[in-house]
Amino acid sequence: MSVSPNPQAPAESCPIRTMPEHVAFIMDGNGRWATSRGLPRTEGHRQGLEALRKTIRHAGKVGIRVVTIYSFSSENWNRPATEVSFLMGLLKRFVQRDLSELHEANVRIRVIGGRSDLEPGILALLEEAEDLTRKNTGLDLVVAFNYGARDEIVRATQHIAQRVKDGELSVEDISEDTLSQNLDTGGLPDPDLIIRTSGEIRLSNFLLWQAAYSEFYFCDLNWPDFDEAALDQALDCFCNRERRYGGVDAKAL
Ligand code: IPE
Ligand code: IPE
Ligand code: MG
Repeated sequence: MSVSPNPQAPAESCPIRTMPEHVAFIMDGNGRWATSRGLPRTEGHRQGLEALRKTIRHAGKVGIRVVTIYSFSSENWNRPATEVSFLMGLLKRFVQRDLSELHEANVRIRVIGGRSDLEPGILALLEEAEDLTRKNTGLDLVVAFNYGARDEIVRATQHIAQRVKDGELSVEDISEDTLSQNLDTGGLPDPDLIIRTSGEIRLSNFLLWQAAYSEFYFCDLNWPDFDEAALDQALDCFCNRERRYGGVDAKAL
């Protein structure tokens, strides 16, 4: 896979100033993609990985700086054991096969989600990916794995409470910024645009805090069918959104 280390050109219809800096993807519909073709759900996940490769490459090309992908939620453990183990294997293969190319393309990988109960082999691979790419300066690829926003907020709260207990922080000094910095995404910009495929219109415990002022884009395509044109369409739509952050449309003043 080749991911442009530096943005070459923004999507034609989207001036660079309105390009989202951070786009997050809820990659949904792999199972439906497969079953509608008479295939096992696992085939949908396999094809979904191809769509992911295309998306990362295209996002880098058009100048998006941060891409977050929802790859496995803290609730996805509720799936049949065979599907969970296939998904674990797929993640391992993705890291093993794609890591060197991502590194060469200057992509920096960061993993968000709970780590304490992960299988040691998977944890080691994820840490290896982060360590190898830590100093890269191109696209930030944030992999939400074993991720649940409520779990993330609880862990951040526990960390902050411990610092108060240890006398490192006073209660009055706890601010929105304190919470933001203690989330797994600390230091990253909030997502400007969240894209969910497969026609579902919900967040499913994804980036609840960070999505406060995100724009949402829902499309009916199942994730394995998502491609460059679908991303361009979402970006075009984003370009026409007016973000007010609680203020007033400048043109209305
Ligand atoms: C998204 O596709 C992939 C993961 C959640 C890991 P799904 O597997 O949820 O596909 P559907 O929603 O059942 O079609
Ligand atoms: C959200 O999709 C999680 C990922 C895409 C990894 P789900 O398919 O798990 O969400 P629900 O169950 O339909 O809400
Ligand atoms: Mg789903």
